[in-house]
Amino acid sequence: MSQHHDEHHSPIKTPKQLILAVIFAFLVPIFAIALLVRNVGTNPRDGAGADAMSEQAVAERIHPIGQVQIKLEGGPAKTGEQVFKNTCSACHAAGMMGAPKFGDAAAWGPRLGQGFEALLHSALKGKGNMSPQGGGDNSDYEVARAVVYMANAGGAKFEEPKAPAAAASAAN
Ligand code: HEC
Repeated sequence: MSQHHDEHHSPIKTPKQLILAVIFAFLVPIFAIALLVRNVGTNPRDGAGADAMSEQAVAERIHPIGQVQIKLEGGPAKTGEQVFKNTCSACHAAGMMGAPKFGDAAAWGPRLGQGFEALLHSALKGKGNMSPQGGGDNSDYEVARAVVYMANAGGAKFEEPKAPAAAASAAN
């Protein structure tokens, strides 16, 4: 009874074929990796994710921060509501840091007793946790309008402040 090991079929029949197969199994991936590495290495690194940024690219990115913004006198003044939205609402909309909340008559009541001038003075110069002008970039006149807007929402009946002479024609 003789048994033959020929059920075992493989394309590799000779030692030479085996060596070739092994060499190919190594060479193909290495070749592919080498190609990839070469591409990465030679492409200029100016894509969005490039870690090295040219001096010009850096300058362009920080440029707007360094820009000087000149406020034009006599431009249309912002309304009290606009100023409230762009500056005051940060604290007064929700009553942050002890700020009297917008529309909350109970919070505004005792403050309104001081009169408009005192409230305006607080808004312009700052008070407690509020920085001067509420930290915003509005003219005194615009802040005054915002004070009226907020105070009136809190129960006051202040009149719209008079526009300063220079801006009178522009501010409807
Ligand atoms: C950083 C938060 C903050 C911003 C922004 C802010 N306020 Fe205030 N405001 C406060 C706080 C806090 C108080 C209460 C201050 C206190 O009584 O100590 C206050 C109080 C006031 C008062 C009452 C002052 C008084 O004498 O009782 C007025 C009026 C006022 N703010 C107007 C404004 C206007 C107008 C703006 C926008 C131009 C503004 N605030 C933006 C935090 C802020």
